[in-house]
Amino acid sequence: MTTRTSIGTSAGTGSSTGGHEQAVLDAERWTAQNYHPLPVVISEAQGAWVTDIHGRRYLDCLAGYSALNFGHRHPELIKVAREQLDRITLTSRAFLHDQFAGFCRDLAELCGKDMVLPMNTGAEAVETGIKVARKWGYRVKGVPEGMATIVVAEHNFHGRTTTIISFSTDKTARDDYGPYTPGFRVVRFGDLAAMREAIDDTTVAVLLEPIQGEAGVIVPPPGYLAGVREICTAQNVLFLADEIQSGLGRTGATFACDHERVVPDAYLLGKALGGGIVPVSAMVADRDVLGVLRPGEHGSTFGGNPLACAVARAVVGLLRTGEYQRRASDLGRHLHRRLRDLVGQGLTGVRGRGLWAGIDIDPALMTGRRACELLLERGVLAKDTHGSTIRLSPPLVVEPEELDWAVDQLAAILRR
Ligand SMILES: Cc1ncc(COP(=O)(O)O)c(C=O)c1O
Repeated sequence: MTTRTSIGTSAGTGSSTGGHEQAVLDAERWTAQNYHPLPVVISEAQGAWVTDIHGRRYLDCLAGYSALNFGHRHPELIKVAREQLDRITLTSRAFLHDQFAGFCRDLAELCGKDMVLPMNTGAEAVETGIKVARKWGYRVKGVPEGMATIVVAEHNFHGRTTTIISFSTDKTARDDYGPYTPGFRVVRFGDLAAMREAIDDTTVAVLLEPIQGEAGVIVPPPGYLAGVREICTAQNVLFLADEIQSGLGRTGATFACDHERVVPDAYLLGKALGGGIVPVSAMVADRDVLGVLRPGEHGSTFGGNPLACAVARAVVGLLRTGEYQRRASDLGRHLHRRLRDLVGQGLTGVRGRGLWAGIDIDPALMTGRRACELLLERGVLAKDTHGSTIRLSPPLVVEPEELDWAVDQLAAILRR
């Protein structure tokens, strides 16, 4: 599925690092230090591969935290984007445009829901979910004004806005940004008894990642999502599934909730919905939930713009084929099999589902960051999280032999 050349080779001379060093220094000089990027300066990409400014190629095993599920510059998505650039890119929601309804219908149908509220970033989709759930709580459930509570999980990651970090349990994400938004109760992920305990008459929603990505690709115990569904239904509480990272093919199904045949009350989507071209996010739910909104109560200048709708509609078209879900499932099985063989050989644990893995490097060997630096030297891009964990989420268009090659590189750095 990808345009391929030989694996792991350097097309550049590698002799001049001047441009590279200057680009790293300039980035440090001119930008806030809210990220700690690996020292690679990328200038081009195609499929599962990126190329740096010296022509060295790397297999992208992060894929924009799943924003690039369909690979870099997927030909069909690029074609749609190009055509749309030549027609119209922005209207604002003050006017309708000819890409809007078709995208919303196709996405709603993919999700089996009535309607869509398009936004841009993942955090905005989550904020939308929180606002809609609160309003639903007051107007439909009858929660006294200002009393709504939402239950969330420990080690969650739902974005970076002030409200969202208010219920983060990660000190780095949260400290120094108070005062915090009240109305959230944090329970242990995977613990149904704790969930039951936390819900009362004021509870309007449970907000969960079906698989916790940033926490290290943490898969809940079997039956957890189905249990949460049952509790929510029994207690008249909305189940908001943040499938921003787990959804749209990554786990081998359209949604991670599908693995337990669970249908949440709302899907919060982002990342891959924009096809790696434009930021597109959405809340997707039935009319009894999203129907609580009236004109002027919520919105976004760029949300649902023509370029976003055209690209995201094409993304929905790719997902409808089932091909990417199948690839994630098949390749994922292979990836996990190979990674499991490395447990005890430098890895202390492997988790995940589909083409998505959290791997724990033996801390006695090196940190996750060091492992990512060594992988970079060998032509593999990956990202560490929480000390010794690395997330692997290659584009779903990666070829089996490319995946094998990446695992070989991992095995090699663990053997050092
Ligand atoms: C599960 C989840 N929700 C929300 C977000 C926030 O998305 P964005 O960075 O587009 O705001 C992320 C980003 O990593 C995520 O993984």
